[in-house]
Amino acid sequence: MEPKTVQNDSKKTLIKNDKINNSKEDNEEKQTIKEKTLSDLPGVGPATIEKLEAVGYNDLMSVAVATPGELIDATGMVQAAAKKIIATARASLEMGFESGEDILKKRELVIKISTGSKAFDALVGGGFESGALTECYGEFGSGKTQIGHILAVNCQKQFPGSTVVYIDTENTFRPERIEQLAKSVGLDPMDVLKNIKVAKAFNTDHQMLLGEKVEDLIKKQGLDVKLVIVDSLTAHFRAEYIGRSTLAERQQKINRHMRDLSKLSQMYNLCVYVTNQVMSRPDMFFGDPTVPIGGHIVGHASTFRIYLRKGKKGSRVAKLVDSPSLPEGEASFYLETSGLKDI
Ligand code: GTP
Ligand code: MG
Repeated sequence: MEPKTVQNDSKKTLIKNDKINNSKEDNEEKQTIKEKTLSDLPGVGPATIEKLEAVGYNDLMSVAVATPGELIDATGMVQAAAKKIIATARASLEMGFESGEDILKKRELVIKISTGSKAFDALVGGGFESGALTECYGEFGSGKTQIGHILAVNCQKQFPGSTVVYIDTENTFRPERIEQLAKSVGLDPMDVLKNIKVAKAFNTDHQMLLGEKVEDLIKKQGLDVKLVIVDSLTAHFRAEYIGRSTLAERQQKINRHMRDLSKLSQMYNLCVYVTNQVMSRPDMFFGDPTVPIGGHIVGHASTFRIYLRKGKKGSRVAKLVDSPSLPEGEASFYLETSGLKDI
């Protein structure tokens, strides 16, 4: 064991220096993640590495958080081997327990992207958080897509030079709208548009692939991605998987997609915003019959869950339905040409 550690140490410093050159000081965690490589895993030769990298397992962290089944699918290795490399990856990454104090320190790195409405920001603890996945669900016209556009602009306002990724599944991304919003916060619309990477997803597989590709923008292109938007998270899934018999498969796939997004948010301290449609439950006689698509799977995978609805006099109401530490509550605002306006 000893000589191996020594041998890796030189590699460690090399990669660390390389990292420092093209990254910000904030993410110490990121550096630990990249210190060792796949070739340090037992029984993993060039052929296996090639297979792993082909499906996105580029570093030890990705292997450490994979399930044996995922690695077996990717490489055709036997279960025992998959378990062994996962265990080794985990051991080498010191993924064990951290003190509450350390976590508190990491929390200081969390960024919060403003919605532009004081009431809405207050509802979610100051803005949409990094290291977390925030879901807004609500009926058509409730403002889910508008909020995506607003966050994309505010992200650039707060973090000049950062990149926003917009995965558009319904063809509703509008550069003209970004122009308007950018002008209203005093930014050059062209600069803002340049830093928004838009990809149209044609089906669920494409959408999932795009989600995975975000990592390449960060690692290979060195972009400082602070916000990833998926609008809408569920529309393609809803269209492709029709009927009860496909439900289990659909839920499994949504679950994997959300896990990928959540992993991304935590590994790179970025904010993920997803939108979700609703359906009406005919069996509900009391209360609001509107329920989000994807049910509990989406609900559990979202860190913050917000229900958007139309309020009085053209206003919108956001209700915080689920969050790790904030009380449930509501905020009202108007959707205006310049962005969100408090009432
Ligand atoms: P679906 O995707 O259909 O489920 O709806 P959504 O929740 O994404 O709704 P969206 O964000 O597209 O909201 C549309 C609403 O935003 C419209 O009904 C308008 O009220 C409002 N809106 C959009 N653009 C503008 C604008 O430029 N000015 C103003 N004042 N309102 C706008
Ligand atoms: Mg929309």
